[in-house]
Parts: sequence; C-alpha cells; structure tokens
Amino acid sequence: MCVVDYDKRKADSVAEEIGEAGGVGYSVSVDLTSADQNKASIAASAELMGGIDILWSHVGEPGPGGVEDLDITAYQRSITLNLDSAVVASSAAIPHLRRSGGGAILYTSSVSGLVGSQFSPTYSAAKFGVVGLCKSLALVLGPDNIRVNALCPGPVNTPMLPGFLARGRDVSADELAELQTKLATTSIPLGRVAEARDVANAALFLASDEAAYFTGVALAVDGGFSSR
Ligand SMILES: NC(=O)c1ccc[n+]([C@@H]2O[C@H](COP(=O)([O-])OP(=O)(O)OC[C@H]3O[C@@H](n4cnc5c(N)ncnc54)[C@H](O)[C@@H]3O)[C@@H](O)[C@H]2O)c1
Repeated sequence: MCVVDYDKRKADSVAEEIGEAGGVGYSVSVDLTSADQNKASIAASAELMGGIDILWSHVGEPGPGGVEDLDITAYQRSITLNLDSAVVASSAAIPHLRRSGGGAILYTSSVSGLVGSQFSPTYSAAKFGVVGLCKSLALVLGPDNIRVNALCPGPVNTPMLPGFLARGRDVSADELAELQTKLATTSIPLGRVAEARDVANAALFLASDEAAYFTGVALAVDGGFSSR
C-alpha cells in the first residue's frame, strides 16, 4: 500500500504501521491541490508497488462555511481538494487499474454528499460532486471490472472534527467536548461520533472481494445521522 499525504511525517508513520502489521507500506509526500503533483503521486505509487488495483481518494477539508461574504480563494482551494483531487487521481489511476485487469476505486465523500448541510454549503456541493463522480464512473468502468464506490461518513473523531463543531468561532476545549456530546446525543441515533476505524472498516469491505457486486454505492457510515 502507498500512503499519500503532504505531511511527510504522517505518511511515513502510516507506512511504517503497515510494515509493522505485516504488510508492505510505502509513502509519497505531495500537495494534492496540485494536479501535477497528484498525477505524479499516482505514477510514483504504481512504480513503488508494481501496479495499482485499488485507489482510495480520501483527502478533503471543510473549506469556508457560508456562501455570503464568500472567501473565493478558500472556496476554490476547497473545491480543488475535495472534488478535483478525486477526478485527477482517478484519471491518473484508471489506466493502472485496467492494466491490473480491474480493481476498485473508493472516494471519501460525506453525509454532506447525501443530504444538504446548512453549515457548510460549499463543502456539501463538493461532496455531492464526489458522489456524482462515483456513480458516473461506476457506469463507465463496470465493463472493465473496475468497481467505484463512495464512503459517506457522518462526524468522525479526527483533527478535522473540531473545525466542523466550532464553525469558525474560537471555542475552548471544554466547549468543543460539550458540542460533540450534544451532536452525538441529539443527531446520531447510535449516540456517538464515528472513530476512524469505523470508516476504515467500511473502506476495507468496499475494496475487498466480498464487495464484488457493489458498485456505484454511496455508503453512509454515520450511525444513522442521515436517516431522518
Ligand atoms: N472528520 C469528519 O468529521 C469527516 C466527516 C465526513 C467526511 N470526512 C472526510 O474524510 C476525509 C478525511 O478527513 P479527516 O477527518 O481524516 O481529515 P483530517 O483533517 O483529520 O486529515 C486530513 C489529512 O489530509 C492531509 N492533507 C490535507 N491537505 C492536503 C493536501 N493539500 N495534500 C495532501 N494531503 C493533504 C492532512 O495532512 C491530513 O493527514 C476528508 O475527505 C473529509 O472531508 C471527514
């Protein structure tokens, strides 16, 4: 597996973890807002691993909150990272998947790619775009034995979550914890935000042979958040 992240330290440490768990981990450090670097990371991954049969395009960021008084630069950057990066990575990876005789593409969208978000309309627009890309490429690539699916997580306990909870305001750690508890108890039927492992387990399934008949699926991984 080849881990791509612009934070070299993080990419290296995940590659190391993969090695410690008995796998073979590589890392490549690029800025995925650059289409050229994104393409180069796919080429480097294919070279390191001797081919590609699974692509997980996972990177994203919350971007600006509202649409009034829009910061155009921040908006464009977030569309580039949340949506364009998935298109560019797919464009570069598909020839490698074909060469492997098929495979799986996974995207990380969001529940905001399934239902609207009053707090992050532009994030939601990008994540709906990712679901559209997934469903469309599933139609295009099915005959080539390439399955294309998307994960749609609800709130996940990662460094991104405080940004969603605070929504641009300055809030203390105590207030963040309170906001998280409130969100979990009022909006998530299973009563907790997701852990990264919940999303990883869904990804493992969709990438595996056990999901051989799944394509074009936008799978909510949200403890029931989007069920109402
Ligand atoms: N955390 C949540 O609540 C949540 C909910 C739904 C969907 N998601 C989606 O899950 C995905 C992962 O989110 P996360 O919560 O792990 O975010 P995170 O902010 O915790 O981690 C993002 C990772 O991407 C890397 N990164 C950021 N910008 C980059 C760039 N330009 N080039 C290369 N690497 C870059 C960072 O170094 C970091 O390792 C995103 O697509 C996000 O939109 C997150």
